Amino acid sequence: MQMRHLNLLLILAFAFTIFACNPSGNEQSAPATFSLIPRPASFTPGNGYFTIAKNTRIVLPANAPEINAMGDLLANQINQATGFAPEVEMTDSPSPTKNAIVISLDPAINHAEGYTLKATKENIAIQAQTPQGVFYALETLRQLFPPEFEKPSGALTLAVPVVDIVDEPRYPYRGMNLDVSRHMFSVEAIKKYIDLMARHKFNTFHWHLTDDQGWRIEIKKYPKLTEVGAWRKETLIGHGARPPFEYDGKRYGGFYTQEEVKEVIAYAQERYVTIIPEIELPGHAQAALAAYPELGCTTGPFEVATRWGVMEDVFCPTEATFTFLEDVLTEVAELFPSQYIHIGGDECPKTRWENSAFCQNLMRSEGLKDEHELQSYFIQRIEKFLLTKNRRIIGWDEILEGGLAPEATVMSWRGMEGGIEAARQKHDVIMTPTNFCYFDYYQGDPAIDPPAIGGNLTLEKVYSFEPTPTELNEEEANYILGSQANVWTEYIKTPEHLEFMVYPRACAMAEVVWSPKETRSWNDFSSRLAGHLKRLGLMGVNYAPHFFDVTAKPVVDMQNHTLSVELSAGDPDYEIRYSLEGKTPTEASPLYESPILIEKTTKFAAATFLDGKLVGRPLNKAYFIHLATARNITLANPYSDKYTAGGDAGLVNGIIGSDQFSDGNWQGFEGKDLDATIDLGESKSVSQVIVNFYNASGSWIFEPTVLTVSVSENGADFQPFGEFSFPNAARQDEPSGKKTARVTGESANARYLKVTARSLGVCPKWHAGAGKSCWLFADEIVVE
Ligand code: ACM
Repeated sequence: MQMRHLNLLLILAFAFTIFACNPSGNEQSAPATFSLIPRPASFTPGNGYFTIAKNTRIVLPANAPEINAMGDLLANQINQATGFAPEVEMTDSPSPTKNAIVISLDPAINHAEGYTLKATKENIAIQAQTPQGVFYALETLRQLFPPEFEKPSGALTLAVPVVDIVDEPRYPYRGMNLDVSRHMFSVEAIKKYIDLMARHKFNTFHWHLTDDQGWRIEIKKYPKLTEVGAWRKETLIGHGARPPFEYDGKRYGGFYTQEEVKEVIAYAQERYVTIIPEIELPGHAQAALAAYPELGCTTGPFEVATRWGVMEDVFCPTEATFTFLEDVLTEVAELFPSQYIHIGGDECPKTRWENSAFCQNLMRSEGLKDEHELQSYFIQRIEKFLLTKNRRIIGWDEILEGGLAPEATVMSWRGMEGGIEAARQKHDVIMTPTNFCYFDYYQGDPAIDPPAIGGNLTLEKVYSFEPTPTELNEEEANYILGSQANVWTEYIKTPEHLEFMVYPRACAMAEVVWSPKETRSWNDFSSRLAGHLKRLGLMGVNYAPHFFDVTAKPVVDMQNHTLSVELSAGDPDYEIRYSLEGKTPTEASPLYESPILIEKTTKFAAATFLDGKLVGRPLNKAYFIHLATARNITLANPYSDKYTAGGDAGLVNGIIGSDQFSDGNWQGFEGKDLDATIDLGESKSVSQVIVNFYNASGSWIFEPTVLTVSVSENGADFQPFGEFSFPNAARQDEPSGKKTARVTGESANARYLKVTARSLGVCPKWHAGAGKSCWLFADEIVVE
């Protein structure tokens, strides 16, 4: 990092707020609040304002048509906001002049996407190496205008605070994906999506155009792809964890014509957004098979999928399939100018290939030792073909299995490991791990949020994402091109809901990929976000409101064996008020100042207030104090880092899990028993132990077969206390949901408890994941 970034650290202390003269020129001092997102690499506020007046000019380089168009656009926007249009003036070498916004191209700016923006009381000077840099400078300028600029009144005073910005992105790949197969979005909605991306300096739109549930791009040579493959006869209702599935009975579908695709590409190009199309292969291909059944390994028939998940029917690696895919990819490559084409490669079950004589023969004749190598053969043939078109492939991290195609870029989604492995093999990597980058996950309490696929990905967690793993050395780290947020749309049906899922989490992601690592600060970001959300609101973005809500974090003190609740709100300016009686707080309720000790079982409520008014949605929580709360717990098998229930004390933190297993209160064990030892600190009379488990076989989560409790006074000699059985744990018709195990024994004096829940270990025979590790979920070990 360059030296100039250092002074930034000093400025951080000011939290982007300075005091300056009021733009109207009166004596009163008013703070200029900056809400730039993503935060520029270097940012030095000064004193005063540059006010755009009737005679302000926009000065541009002559012979730079892209920039001229941007200048005209800016003049128009200013006109709409203020009621007067600055004159646009073209000159061979623009130089700073009074009362003007002066844009110049300067080869000395050291980054192709970088720019400088210097606002003084006299003028605004923008310099960039390329038109793309100018574009980003103008996006920044727009964010320096008041939020009302976004909803023009025609009478706005545009005053830009004095500031010196030197900016460039951290990563070259700054992406957002959108799945249009599970649900289709109109060309208008796609354009707005791209527009919002560009406003946050993202430069890559990954358009997931094909999947089991719908083929969405017109291919001239194969009309049935859209006549048949773009339509499903109905759609699953709800999560559909297990049969019998319930369907809506409504035909659903649509596709983009090649003309529409061209229109979207042109729209994106004007905003310096590259579109990478994804054509899924060899898996996620059922819509294509429904149109052309001869491309499968069985005779079918196939239908466009009507429910979610991973389908067994995939492309069969025959010559007919390769001819088909090469024809499709030829049309795709002719439409899309991007260097990359995404070929999928994820979640391709191998059962059809295992049972296909053709595939087994092919493996023998090609010397492929297993079906993973057959998948690798598949991908490598596709790569070889696309290289003849001068295109490179991106594939999901499964393409590592069976050997990477020589030039492939890996999109690491199942975690960071695939990306680390690929970088070590000197392949380019885009990091999109589910637990930081999947915007189809819940962003708040599933009890309040609309149904989502699962998971738990808060705004703050997105903000904390670090795409470059510390495991990599400097040379390997250079292979990390950047990151992207993925938006799968099983549960997202409308543009409004899409915006709710994406914003403001995309604002956090924008900063992850653009801003220097060393200046990233959640507190600083959240102080800017409030202003930015106002802007998004005026732009008509249906952003999610979680930022205004209270978040409660249990703090378990294992030294003093206490439970406290720490509260926070997105905006540090909000007051938080709370109630220990479960009543919605009012402006007269106690003000939160520091973590609140929970001494007995409590119904807790909290809410944010600004100027005496309730903002956001009130929070309601229950804390359950029992003999094991905040007591030492040891686990023989570690919990998964995907489902931690808050960490080591997750099973003794006083919080009972809800009916949603992804509410953050469930601890998950993958393929292993729950095997806990709890130290109550001193001998206590124990009468019962209660643990909730979860059953959701569609998510590979099964209740245990049995919960066993034994007790001990000395921690060495354990006596049986009791057990609770789930005789139907492995049955297909066992209902989903929360399952309570209550072990009641003769009251016993004990200091230590051993609590063991026996996992099925692997999914049962009837299950899609038969023989593979299953999950065991528990919420709290309540001891009474
Ligand atoms: C993926 O989420 N299956 C890439």
